Amino acid sequence: MCGIVGAIAQRNIVPVLLQGLQRLEYRGYDSAGLAVVHNRQLQRVRSTGRVAELTKSSANTSGHLGIAHTRWATHGVPSERNAHPHLSNELIAVVHNGIIENYEEIRARLTAQNYIFTSDTDSEVIAHLIHSHYVRNHNLLLATQAALAELVGAYAIGVVAADNDTHMICARKGSPLLLGVGKGEHFIASDVSALLSVTKNVVYLEEGDVAEISLHGYRIFNAQGVAVERPVHISEMSSESVELGEYRHYMQKEIHEQPQALADTLEGVCNSQTLVPGIFGAEAAATFAQIDSLLILACGTSHHAGMVARYWLEEIAGIPCTVEIASEYRYRVSVANPKTLVVTISQSGETADTLAALNHAKSLGHNHTLSICNVPESALVRLSKLRLLTRAGPEIGVASTKAFTTQLAALFLLTLVLAKLRGRLGKEEEQRHLHALRHLPSAAQAVLKLEPEIAHLAEHFADKQHALFLGRGLHYPIALEGALKLKEISYIHAEAYPAGELKHGPLALVDKDMPVIAVAPNDALLEKLKSNLQEVRARGGELYVFADAGTRLQSSAGVHLMQMPEHAGYLSPILHTIALQLLAYYVALKKGTDVDKPRNLAKSVTVE
Ligand code: M6R
Repeated sequence: MCGIVGAIAQRNIVPVLLQGLQRLEYRGYDSAGLAVVHNRQLQRVRSTGRVAELTKSSANTSGHLGIAHTRWATHGVPSERNAHPHLSNELIAVVHNGIIENYEEIRARLTAQNYIFTSDTDSEVIAHLIHSHYVRNHNLLLATQAALAELVGAYAIGVVAADNDTHMICARKGSPLLLGVGKGEHFIASDVSALLSVTKNVVYLEEGDVAEISLHGYRIFNAQGVAVERPVHISEMSSESVELGEYRHYMQKEIHEQPQALADTLEGVCNSQTLVPGIFGAEAAATFAQIDSLLILACGTSHHAGMVARYWLEEIAGIPCTVEIASEYRYRVSVANPKTLVVTISQSGETADTLAALNHAKSLGHNHTLSICNVPESALVRLSKLRLLTRAGPEIGVASTKAFTTQLAALFLLTLVLAKLRGRLGKEEEQRHLHALRHLPSAAQAVLKLEPEIAHLAEHFADKQHALFLGRGLHYPIALEGALKLKEISYIHAEAYPAGELKHGPLALVDKDMPVIAVAPNDALLEKLKSNLQEVRARGGELYVFADAGTRLQSSAGVHLMQMPEHAGYLSPILHTIALQLLAYYVALKKGTDVDKPRNLAKSVTVE
């Protein structure tokens, strides 16, 4: 999604803006631009394509105050005229992330007042609206506040004025934005990674906040216009953690980081002898004692994590669990049970649909909320009563990898804690699960050793248009996740089915051009799955089977077998996922797609 960077300093800030945009590239974008205030004029540079293009075009631009943006098109095609910043009368420049829902009405009104629109975006109305107030009051803060009061929708914005080289205004509502606090210089950004080379001291704006930023300080006002203090956090993220290092792509790097990410996420738990609810927050024990069911809300890959967890929660903890796609739940008429624990799962913690679903659940009277999230200061974490932070570190590749496996680890902990509180986990069993969790990072490492074999297997997919993924039980969501990975980075159409559903329709698709990927661990459903696989072979379908060590399945003509290093029991979905991530990665490499920034997609989906 769109990314924002802004800076005010005593030095030329153009390199800071460009480096910040580069760091935000992972969020997904199709055009970029910047505007600086120089000699009481706005200098604007915009380009379609990569930030590298913008860097070339900005060679002769400099200034001490400016804003910059990467745009992911929503209203209007990706083009230079639709790229931000948007200007009003060469006086006001605005960058915007989010969607303005009432832009058509405002646009009509402003057009009638002789404002000339030069883009198809919803964002341009913000620039003209601020301008309409600024020409009356000559106060950029008040003009912005007045304009924001007229907007319906979501925004994070940065604003500068040509005749004001001492202040920048920013605001957020529904889209993330933070301030970077330097020495005699200040910054704004969509996320902290954009600012790592200039400061680690950040202030997260709250919903509805507006801030006025100068060289030596900043003032923050809440949604009611009252001056407020927000704490300064020192980011733990390092510059190196967002560098590519020896890897060809971030996705490959992040796949390889999984053993460490799992170890970090499980650190506190694995070092202790017993599981305690406190890992979810001080109020967890009291909350868990009151609940009788779970409702998991998430999107995309995070939703798949929830689907796996449902199998664990119902089987191990014996607690009813529903899993819903956040964007569906938020608009559905549902019956709230006040004893339900609402669990939201998100890598970014800023996914608009997941945030809205949580707010919707709260509005229905759900008071027990828990988030599983990778970004400590995200809106989702702040909105939830309880939390467990995954410690995957920054995930830059659009395709979620280490975020997913660490979410699974966190959800397994939740399952064990609830099982224990509900008297369904004996001491011995608890130790057995803890042992399996301690072993998980090295089991994940062993899967990574299959990389050359999987790369070889991927060659079979380079000329394919479609693929079918099959799994059963706990591994059905893993089939879904494997299909999602393949489609999002290789653009091969991929679908996933619970293997038992094959004969109820999708079998009609199977022929020699339809590769079928089966997730086939050594579990109780293996024999059933074997029959399903025979149904595929009998129709000439080529099978790619991801089985466990010691499997009863064998390679044969049309059956390509890949053996996982071990059978990890309940944790098997984590290992099988890593193999499917590698498969998708190498297929994408063969197809030559942009692995880390697949077309049309964004990392954090901060719009509806
Ligand atoms: O940040 P979140 O986990 O809330 O993101 C949810 C989805 O947008 C995300 O998982 C998406 O499906 C990934 N690109 C899949 O790889």
